[in-house]
Amino acid sequence: MNTVLITGANRGLGLGMVKFLIENKKAGNIFATCRKTSEELKSLSEVHDNLHILNLDVTNTAQYNDIAEQVSKISGEQGLNLLINNAGITTKFTKLNLVKPEQLMENFTINTVAPILLTKAALNAATKSMSIDLKKEQILVASMHPGWVKTDMGGKNAPLDVATSVRGIFDTIGKLREEDNGKFFQYDGSELPW
Ligand SMILES: NC(=O)c1ccc[n+]([C@@H]2O[C@H](COP(=O)([O-])OP(=O)(O)OC[C@H]3O[C@@H](n4cnc5c(N)ncnc54)[C@H](OP(=O)(O)O)[C@@H]3O)[C@@H](O)[C@H]2O)c1
Repeated sequence: MNTVLITGANRGLGLGMVKFLIENKKAGNIFATCRKTSEELKSLSEVHDNLHILNLDVTNTAQYNDIAEQVSKISGEQGLNLLINNAGITTKFTKLNLVKPEQLMENFTINTVAPILLTKAALNAATKSMSIDLKKEQILVASMHPGWVKTDMGGKNAPLDVATSVRGIFDTIGKLREEDNGKFFQYDGSELPW
């Protein structure tokens, strides 16, 4: 896990992942992308030279090349070892008949299309497909369910805290083997059917 890029790293699970990697010295270079940096992320980058904040709205696919170039410049030969497509939204829909088409499209664009250029079912199907396509590049692709976590998205009634979910996510990532390519896992390492 030498070079890691995490999208949506300014708060919630993304920020929790950055903190985990720093606290446990699990990564060399950490690229934390976000639309708007947070005080917490900024303060961390001021004391950790290996933490690089890059500005990225994941719906802005035109920016992807530029991000790749910035990552290459810093990581050099090492390249990127782990990409975590964490940025996501959930619109607080009340009743189905009150949902506006543009809200559904926004959900779809950020959660489904942006992560690769994918609703959850489409993301899992694309994970499977990418895992096959990228195998020859020796890139392993898997989907991860963080559990129901106390973040702005998960809300305060969620049973899991960010630290527990994030620790489980990285434990699970660390144990992934070739036979896990294309699968869907929960933060605790259990495989989920889809
Ligand atoms: N929490 C849960 O219980 C739960 C359960 C299942 C799955 N998840 C998944 O876990 C991931 C992280 O969720 P979370 O709980 O940490 O949510 P969160 O606290 O609401 O944080 C969401 C993150 O995604 C970023 N984001 C949203 N749209 C973006 C865009 N267009 N471009 C760049 N960044 C964008 C947000 O950035 P801004 O600050 O700029 O808005 C924020 O950093 C999401 O993919 C979510 O679907 C969470």
